Amino acid sequence: MRIKLVAGNWKMNKSLEEGTQLVSDILAQLPPLNGRVVFATPYIHLSSVAPLLKGREGVYLAAQNCHQEEKGAYTGEISASMLRSVGVDYVLIGHSERRQYFGENNELLAKKVDITLSKGIKPIFCCGEPLEIREAGTHDDYVAAQLEASLYHLTEEQFRQIVIAYEPIWAIGTGRTATSAQAQEMHAGIRARIAAKYGAEVANDTTILYGGSANAGNAQDLFSQPDVDGGLIGGASLVAADFVAIVGAM
Ligand code: 13P
Repeated sequence: MRIKLVAGNWKMNKSLEEGTQLVSDILAQLPPLNGRVVFATPYIHLSSVAPLLKGREGVYLAAQNCHQEEKGAYTGEISASMLRSVGVDYVLIGHSERRQYFGENNELLAKKVDITLSKGIKPIFCCGEPLEIREAGTHDDYVAAQLEASLYHLTEEQFRQIVIAYEPIWAIGTGRTATSAQAQEMHAGIRARIAAKYGAEVANDTTILYGGSANAGNAQDLFSQPDVDGGLIGGASLVAADFVAIVGAM
């Protein structure tokens, strides 16, 4: 069954106090859910946010990254086991900002996907093309190559744990949202590629999120597309009323 989902990616924002307040404000205003709500907070917020989510059906905790190794001498890093130990359910893998500023490539991301799955955490795998690729018209193949290189080694059972987030880089933090038609076209294309690899049933069950300047004003239009199963929300996830409205559009 395909699960609808809205995730807030806070990126590097909010003090601990501001973050726990934001979660409390959102939880107090949440409408009846038509899918899942995920909070992808900074690492240091996770253990404080986890108890706030306890007993709240349909609400989940995510990290924004994790290290690819099990454990060891990797100063400053956080492992998937550590994340699991504080109650993390999902991890963002391969956000374009990790690819761009931290040199994360498809092979490294494949390892992160593997370690995450091995600890019982679901990857939210991010893909998406830069502007020059969109303008060259090769975005379809570009995104397909990202999926193939980092995910297609998975078994069908493993792949069923994956959530895909399509985030065109030109739309992230720019206010230039993809039109709902552009999002639908890409999502349908991604689903068709998944069907070719894992079969129609797996593809039909896969949750594919849109991310990139999604907000309270455009969420309804984006989410009404048949292959857009929710959103990965940056800026608008930092304002309780906006995030709640986006969840309501799911
Ligand atoms: P914005 O919603 O701020 O454009 O960010 C999107 C994003 O990168 C979510 O991961």
